[in-house]
Amino acid sequence: MRTDADIPALLAALKATHEVDQYPVLPTNISREWLLEGDDGMAWVAEHDGEVVGHIAVAAAEEDEYALAMHRLFVRPDARGRGAASALLTTVETYARLLGQDLFLEVVSHNTDAINLYTKRGWRRVGGYIATWRAPDGTHPEIILFAAPHNDQRRVLPVGTGKPTE
Ligand SMILES: CC(C)(COP(=O)(O)OP(=O)(O)OC[C@H]1O[C@@H](n2cnc3c(N)ncnc32)[C@H](O)[C@@H]1OP(=O)(O)O)[C@@H](O)C(=O)NCCC(=O)NCCS
Repeated sequence: MRTDADIPALLAALKATHEVDQYPVLPTNISREWLLEGDDGMAWVAEHDGEVVGHIAVAAAEEDEYALAMHRLFVRPDARGRGAASALLTTVETYARLLGQDLFLEVVSHNTDAINLYTKRGWRRVGGYIATWRAPDGTHPEIILFAAPHNDQRRVLPVGTGKPTE
């Protein structure tokens, strides 16, 4: 699980991720506050060669108290393609399944590596909307909502998970 000692390495990884992937979209969100927002400490890190290189968190979905939302998944660009994100996703998917809770996530449409990974793992696209907030170029990003493979197929969230990935 994530500890306070992991935060400096995670913020460095988040900065590098923002530069390559516009994740987070807003540079002002390369911050401890945004990283930890609302997860109540339910978060895990991935390590490679003894260094913290990736992160994932889970929290109650604000739109549905019986569902969970996955947040803040990223892997440092130079540590990708080695299964770090897959391992983090497996952890959160297992956690939700063991609790008997559906699991959702929101992703900005330009994060195609993440979208491909979710699709490959069997996540289903269940909705989307245009963000009310603006990217630095002034546009309103498109947000896509995904449901985990184990979810009750009939269940959808009314709008989103409650914590847009701005
Ligand atoms: C999406 C993201 C988290 C993926 O991280 P990653 O650690 O590279 O992901 P993985 O290594 O688990 O999987 C990526 C690829 O490596 C492959 N892979 C998985 N395990 C592997 C292993 N042991 N060895 C080599 N390759 C492996 C996967 O099959 C996948 O292949 P693909 O390129 O054909 O899709 C990363 O690109 C990222 O941080 N993106 C920016 C942030 C973002 O968009 N976050 C989404 C927020 S909703």
